[in-house]
Amino acid sequence: MGKLQSKIALITGGNSGIGLATAEEFVAEGAYLYITGRRPKQLDAAVARIGRNVTGIQGDVANLADLDRLYAQIEKEKGRLDVVFANAGIGNQVAPLGSITEEQFDLTFDINVRGLLFTVQKALPLMQKGGSILLNSSTASVKGVPAVSVYSASKAAVRSLARCWTSDVKDRGIRVNVIAPGYAETPIFETLDWPKERFQAVKAGITPTIPLGRWGHRRKRPPRLLSSWLRMTPAMWQALSFTWMGELFQFDA
Ligand SMILES: NC(=O)c1ccc[n+]([C@@H]2O[C@H](COP(=O)([O-])OP(=O)(O)OC[C@H]3O[C@@H](n4cnc5c(N)ncnc54)[C@H](OP(=O)(O)O)[C@@H]3O)[C@@H](O)[C@H]2O)c1
Repeated sequence: MGKLQSKIALITGGNSGIGLATAEEFVAEGAYLYITGRRPKQLDAAVARIGRNVTGIQGDVANLADLDRLYAQIEKEKGRLDVVFANAGIGNQVAPLGSITEEQFDLTFDINVRGLLFTVQKALPLMQKGGSILLNSSTASVKGVPAVSVYSASKAAVRSLARCWTSDVKDRGIRVNVIAPGYAETPIFETLDWPKERFQAVKAGITPTIPLGRWGHRRKRPPRLLSSWLRMTPAMWQALSFTWMGELFQFDA
């Protein structure tokens, strides 16, 4: 029996990167899954790729009306939610101190913090005892990378929210945990709008700082549907399936 047999799960930002890889794994483990994202074409492609037991609902996590519509549909169709992976996020608003704009700050915090907060808060009425909330932070939250302060601070906020939420929902038997991935080769880096050479140079500088000396990536020929970011898998299952509460699972390779 799969680890998520009969569970109803939601992954925000499930149409790409880490969210999509996790989505494939959740369905392989028996979940019925809802995925979201702003881009309808990518959402349809992800639903087709996952192939079964999945519904795509277009929406922006920074738009509270979209979140209301999302949960209204889940409630109507399934009546409950067992697992929420609040994964949607952006990382393209980079600028060193001195040239950070109000727009960059607002956009990053609107999606990575405000959007994540209301994703979770609005899910709560659908969640019951045994429910599991997993938040996607980043190892950036504790690093000091040039020009990435706003993104890093948004991910530190995610960790902080989880600590307090653990206390807020513990009496309901709902667990909150955080995963903090290290660098993984996903489309998030394409959104930086940098010339290829600049990205390659930055990447070459980052790689030696990763303990395993390489970026996380999707396996070309997975033995089964085990996602990419293979090192994420044990951490994710720990966070989801056992008794951990308020933990941070960091995997930096
Ligand atoms: N890749 C890394 O090295 C790394 C490391 C640590 C943490 N992370 C975190 O992992 C998460 C996923 O990132 P990724 O690397 O997999 O990048 P990705 O492939 O670009 O995925 C980001 C996902 O978030 C969705 N999204 C972004 N803004 C949204 C919004 N306002 N409303 C709804 N969905 C939104 C995107 O879909 P749409 O564009 O269609 O909305 C997409 O599905 C992010 O929170 C990121 O910060 C990534």
